[in-house]
Amino acid sequence: MRVLAIETSCDETGIALVEGRKTESGLEFVVLGNALLSQAALHAEYGGVYPTLAKREHQKNLPILLDQLAEQFRTETPQAKGPEKQTVGIEVDAIAVTEGPGLEPALWTGITFAQTLAADWNKPLFGVNHMEGHLISSLAIPQKKNTEKLEYIGMFTLENINFPVLGLLVSGGHTLFVQSDDWFKYKILGETLDDAVGECFDKVARMLGLPYPGGPQISRLAESARLKGLAFETGLKATPFKLPRPMIAAATCDTSFSGLKTAALYALRDMGGAENLSDDDKAAFAREFEDSVTEVFVSKTRRALRDTHAKTFVIGGGVAANAHMRKTLVSMIRAEFSEVEIRLPDLSITGDNAIMTAEAALAHFLTGNWQRIAPPDEIKAQGSLSLAATK
Ligand code: KG4
Ligand code: ZN
Repeated sequence: MRVLAIETSCDETGIALVEGRKTESGLEFVVLGNALLSQAALHAEYGGVYPTLAKREHQKNLPILLDQLAEQFRTETPQAKGPEKQTVGIEVDAIAVTEGPGLEPALWTGITFAQTLAADWNKPLFGVNHMEGHLISSLAIPQKKNTEKLEYIGMFTLENINFPVLGLLVSGGHTLFVQSDDWFKYKILGETLDDAVGECFDKVARMLGLPYPGGPQISRLAESARLKGLAFETGLKATPFKLPRPMIAAATCDTSFSGLKTAALYALRDMGGAENLSDDDKAAFAREFEDSVTEVFVSKTRRALRDTHAKTFVIGGGVAANAHMRKTLVSMIRAEFSEVEIRLPDLSITGDNAIMTAEAALAHFLTGNWQRIAPPDEIKAQGSLSLAATK
């Protein structure tokens, strides 16, 4: 079964064509085309995503990306030439679109575009929860790419999943611990009480004068500090200051990052502002911040694994690209929960993309879970759609 998926929940415009099939032990996804455009550079001057700009860019880019995708798909199926180059529409069995959570003006652009395609091509339209997309795509294991023959762009298998699954979903808009006891059943164990962790990375990066998106920048600086043995608490500026580890000891899987953000702001102010810091000081600061966030997640993940007796742990979302967090979480789980299987997403799909949207939709379709097929015009943008609402 072939799905054309559209993702516009934040500042990436994505369209992907993915074929899914059942295998003996699960599902297999073959990516036939993937067009993705990041608006990050445009939002950089605002220090974060500017919804009106995101909406305008999605509107402008969706038709361009659909053309690009048709082009990729044509390259890989040389038999489809001439007028048949429009076959992308004809060849799909269904269309999927992110309906939430996300920025509503941005979500609407994808939904309206998908509704038009569904009507023109007379195909069913499926609304996908963005967080379910992060979760399902992160559980799927990338297979060897067959780039030489260009038969497909990528392949992922979603097989032998052992429930319960504990998911840690960390992105620019969300911070969630979720328990899944079976396909499409989600229980939220904890979430952020204020800022999402990715947002905190972005804000602290901005305080340090680093460009948006700040997560990869902080990670790069922090790693350089580790390599050089620079630590903030030893006080490069002779400041015996340590950033807090918010809610680390709280008996809950909830998190809170706004206090950490404020503590970072005050610490920088006390040191005379980021502009007065040397590169080494900045790197040590980034390391202290990344250590704080990582320690909080290690502690909460330990708690969640104990509480849920999960057999599988998966991390997903943009922040799941963070190398230090991945490494530290893996070490803790291997040492303390050796029976838990760890699934880490391929770095190519941690950030927003439409492959994840297609995979979530295909998982529902292929397992016969058609409950969410609604008339196309009933799909609406739902900015704060919860994963717990998934049917
Ligand atoms: O999932 P995503 O692409 O978009 C949302 O749904 O929000 O996540 C984007 C977030 C941004 O805050 C970005 O700074 C963060 O993911 N991010 C990282 C890293 N790469 C991206 N945060 C920490 N370390 C990284 N390596
Ligand atoms: Zn996301």
